[in-house]
Amino acid sequence: MAAALLCFLLAGPVLLAAAGPLDYSNNGTLPLVIWHGMGDSCCNPLSMGVIKKMVEKEIPGIYVISLMIGKSIVEDTENGFFMDVNKQVSMVCSQLAQDPKLKGGYNAMGFSQGAQFLRAVAQRCPSPTMKTLISVGGQHQGVYGLPRCPGESSHICDIIRKALNDGAYTDIVQKHLVQAQYWHDPLNDDLYKKHSLFLADINQERAVNETYKKNLQLLDKFVLVKFLNDTVVDPVDSEWFGFLKTGQAKETETLQESVLYKEDRLGLAAMDKAGKLVFLATEGDHLQFTQEWFKKNLLPFLH
Ligand SMILES: *[C@@H]1O[C@H](CO)[C@@H](O)[C@H](O)[C@H]1NC(C)=O
Ligand SMILES: *[C@@H]1O[C@H](CO)[C@@H](O)[C@H](O)[C@H]1NC(C)=O
Ligand SMILES: *[C@@H]1O[C@H](CO)[C@@H](O)[C@H](O)[C@H]1NC(C)=O
Repeated sequence: MAAALLCFLLAGPVLLAAAGPLDYSNNGTLPLVIWHGMGDSCCNPLSMGVIKKMVEKEIPGIYVISLMIGKSIVEDTENGFFMDVNKQVSMVCSQLAQDPKLKGGYNAMGFSQGAQFLRAVAQRCPSPTMKTLISVGGQHQGVYGLPRCPGESSHICDIIRKALNDGAYTDIVQKHLVQAQYWHDPLNDDLYKKHSLFLADINQERAVNETYKKNLQLLDKFVLVKFLNDTVVDPVDSEWFGFLKTGQAKETETLQESVLYKEDRLGLAAMDKAGKLVFLATEGDHLQFTQEWFKKNLLPFLH
């Protein structure tokens, strides 16, 4: 969820310089696939555009795809609110499978809701193989609240909030509202488990799909970035796979305290023991970080 308001990234004028001609020879550097957040698009010059250019500048020759869901930027932004997530994931899977440059594998970086969507890609579509997944402010246990919405989208968020309150787990809302598909209501755990079309499925709430478990383990690294002063994601623990304890809406539990981990329903405990999970925290509100922070903390995972 939430548009990338990466204003700090614009601080360096160097980013505004046009990137040189791209070298797609892929000399040992894995390609990078980026999935934007809610209210954002593939090609927003203030967010994903900046990230793409920065990565291209820092890692010469790298092939970067910033995913566009739909045929235009407007459609892409709208689909982030209204298109069945399972459909979005399968569209992305087929796009990646058809790209010959990804045959040798790729790394992925998801911003906000784009992070849990890319995790679904890893779990459902092992070919081509995702090597490293970087989740930047993703909501892996969903959200139970929509406290604040990105500026230009605030009217859309009012509508969404109302629909979620009226019935997040009704079929019609599930099918058509992206945020409902990762709405996680700890007071209505049965409804969530039974009716959540997306999140309950990828988090193995109904059943353990061994394929998901096996595919996720193909990752070499799963990096989870949490924003310590996030006012958009509720609860912020979700960025590290934690969530509210079931049956109440106050106390939270960490991933390590959860049933998901204890029963290792998704293979995360095994990945943790193998040193594949990386938990990063940074001060700042949702998706707020500096270029320097990005280069120091995230770029090393892409080399
Ligand atoms: C890849 O090739 C580009 C130019 O073709 C070069 O500048 C860059 O250093 C190379 N990267 C690696 C990781 O070898
Ligand atoms: C498990 O996930 C795979 C990959 O998405 C899917 O093809 C399969 O149908 C799923 N199995 C069950 C029992 O849902
Ligand atoms: C951000 O959150 C951290 C952890 O809760 C806190 O220590 C820090 O003071 C906060 N920073 C700001 C600028 O609010």
